[in-house]
Amino acid sequence: MNTRLIAARVLSRVLQDGQSLTAALDSALPTVESAKDRAFIQALCYGACRSYHRLDFILSELLDKPLKDLDVKSLALVGLYQLKYMRVKPHAAVSETVLAARKKPWAKALINALLRSYLRDQESLELKADNNHCAAVSHPDWLIRQIEQDWPQQAQNILQENNWQPPMALRVNLARVSLDHYLQQLIGLDIAAMTVDFCPSALILDKPVAVDLLPGFADGLVSVQDVAAQLAAGLLDVRAGQRVLDVCAAPGGKAAHILEHQSQTKELVAVDIDAARMLRVTDTLQRLRLSATLVVGDAANPQDWWDGRLFERILLDAPCSALGVIRRHPDIKLLRRADDIQPLQALQQSILHAVWPLLAPGGIMVYATCSILKQENEQQIAAFLAEHPDAIELPIDAPWGIAGSHGRQIMTGESAMDGFYYARISKA
Ligand SMILES: C[S@@+](CC[C@H](N)C(=O)[O-])C[C@H]1O[C@@H](n2cnc3c(N)ncnc32)[C@H](O)[C@@H]1O
Repeated sequence: MNTRLIAARVLSRVLQDGQSLTAALDSALPTVESAKDRAFIQALCYGACRSYHRLDFILSELLDKPLKDLDVKSLALVGLYQLKYMRVKPHAAVSETVLAARKKPWAKALINALLRSYLRDQESLELKADNNHCAAVSHPDWLIRQIEQDWPQQAQNILQENNWQPPMALRVNLARVSLDHYLQQLIGLDIAAMTVDFCPSALILDKPVAVDLLPGFADGLVSVQDVAAQLAAGLLDVRAGQRVLDVCAAPGGKAAHILEHQSQTKELVAVDIDAARMLRVTDTLQRLRLSATLVVGDAANPQDWWDGRLFERILLDAPCSALGVIRRHPDIKLLRRADDIQPLQALQQSILHAVWPLLAPGGIMVYATCSILKQENEQQIAAFLAEHPDAIELPIDAPWGIAGSHGRQIMTGESAMDGFYYARISKA
């Protein structure tokens, strides 16, 4: 099947049905035989989402009235994306995209006309896009305003970073191999990587590679994980013999790192509400030869799953807006709405309240999100501290992030990291 058509269908699942790009690609790609075609479709879909607000603006300039047929609109966006951003010959991009519309003759003519008009007026259209608030940075208006409100100094940089492709970062399993030794293995395979001063397990690759090309991946010597996410285990500082609760644990990246970091953890209980995502925790732990107690349950209702024994450490990696990982999931810019934030903040608050009684006196809870919004981060923690006199914030003194009124915020792109937030709280 025509690769442009498949890409447009994937994009349409996101635009029309609100499906995540990952889910839409997961169901479309297995039907595509050639790896080259799969990579092309993926690049088209990620790119079209990343540049959606700019391309959509240009499309609206090219049309007299909005395109109601979202399948055709998706195809037009896929066409424009190739012309502006890909090294596809323009005539091939136009003819192949037009061909993809062959089942709708009216759309074929329209796509042809649109793409040719774009090529003719490219310079002036791009200039108009540069001068439009949302198109220039390719973000929805509400999100630009929200980021500018929370981070007036950093907003421009955050918006730019959101549109870059993130690097591939690795977490070396230091319980099994030293960082230096693993780096040498990579160099031996011509895979260039650099270390990160403040994160002893991390390597950042110059170029992404397929995981099966990573030495020892199947045997658990290494995992793929952003550097910001690798800071959780150090902050949790689990000591030998302690019981740990990882309360929103799937797919299990941080749970696995905690166990790699402290091989004498007494027990790690990993809870997640999503049974399907929990299967991924099982797979991850198996690959890394680690074990944990897995519980499918609602973190906001521990009475349904808690056995009454206290934990010395709790990691709450909360469900959040994920606005710190837009560069990895650019469809977030299309799917997330301003009014999603308040319910997420309420869910985080209810989980915080519910798990606090499970922490032993003197224990430490780490609260984390991959968000950059203050409402989900420092304001959330401020409210929690105000309501819990037995909660004492432990300041995070680190060479990364920005200290806020509470906790520490990593801005998207800082030292090549995702946007992330951490706060450490101990119990009196
Ligand atoms: C940010 S992800 C966790 C990532 C994970 N800690 C890791 O490092 O791989 C948030 C998780 O919270 C889970 N979740 C959402 N609501 C929940 C609830 N009420 N109780 C337990 N888990 C929940 C989601 O299913 C999702 O897997």
